[in-house]
Amino acid sequence: MTHAGLPLQVRLDAMGQEIGRKLIAGDEVTDEEFDALLDEKPRARSGRYWSCVRAARVASKLLTQAGAQNVLDVGAGVGKFCTIASLTSSRRVWGLERRGALVYDARRLAQRLGAEVVMHEGTLADIDPSRFDGFYFFNPFGEYVADDAGRYDSEFPRSFDAYIRDARTVERWLLDAPVGTAMVTYNGLGGRIPACFKVQHTTLVRDDVMRLWVKTGPSINTEAYVEVEDELITASALAELAKQGEKAFEDSPLVAALASPPEDR
Ligand SMILES: C[S@@+](CC[C@H](N)C(=O)[O-])C[C@H]1O[C@@H](n2cnc3c(N)ncnc32)[C@H](O)[C@@H]1O
Repeated sequence: MTHAGLPLQVRLDAMGQEIGRKLIAGDEVTDEEFDALLDEKPRARSGRYWSCVRAARVASKLLTQAGAQNVLDVGAGVGKFCTIASLTSSRRVWGLERRGALVYDARRLAQRLGAEVVMHEGTLADIDPSRFDGFYFFNPFGEYVADDAGRYDSEFPRSFDAYIRDARTVERWLLDAPVGTAMVTYNGLGGRIPACFKVQHTTLVRDDVMRLWVKTGPSINTEAYVEVEDELITASALAELAKQGEKAFEDSPLVAALASPPEDR
């Protein structure tokens, strides 16, 4: 269907409804098609910062299969995962985002697509994690330590301490979560994942690793997993490698912090 000739807002609303219908029906939607609904800045950065349509669909399916009913996207950006997950799972999906402009865009996007998305503007401290039984993490904290090319913009300063603070907050959420809590990580959570969470499924989406994790037993605060690039390694093995002066880890304060034993944290 062509919407040429209609005023821009009317055209975008019509395109949104059509894309929403296709997502619900399971029909193909390309990223180009979806991203045409976004403003210029989030559209130009989409390939790097937002989940592609396929990643959002796969992650949503994995969370649904794991039984998650109330899913939070931690670092929801422009709401691409949230809207797609809501439409494909027929559920309300929550997003947390610290950039006010993106929260505004995400709400408008969800409205255009007819998706049930609740966006919270804020940071981890503003969230009660016990309200959720499913989490999605698409490397949300990476930009704390990325160079300029790896950051959405310069609104928030680079901060190693903030990275570690947020990674530890999420680790605490996971330790406190009930058995059965599900989580999908895509391109890495960036923090320690307590060993009471087990990988149930691993897949590649656009060459990046996506993992479904489920909490299968009581909290264990003595061991954790860390996703390093595409690999999964225990924190104690990482600590051992760092202790042996393994070249790849020697200069990385980040890896050293993630590998530190629980009593140091
Ligand atoms: C890589 S994007 C992922 C977007 C979205 N999850 C998706 O899959 O399309 C990470 C987002 O997390 C947000 N973010 C990073 N740290 C955050 C924090 N501490 N609290 C809230 N949002 C955060 C960033 O502003 C950015 O929009």
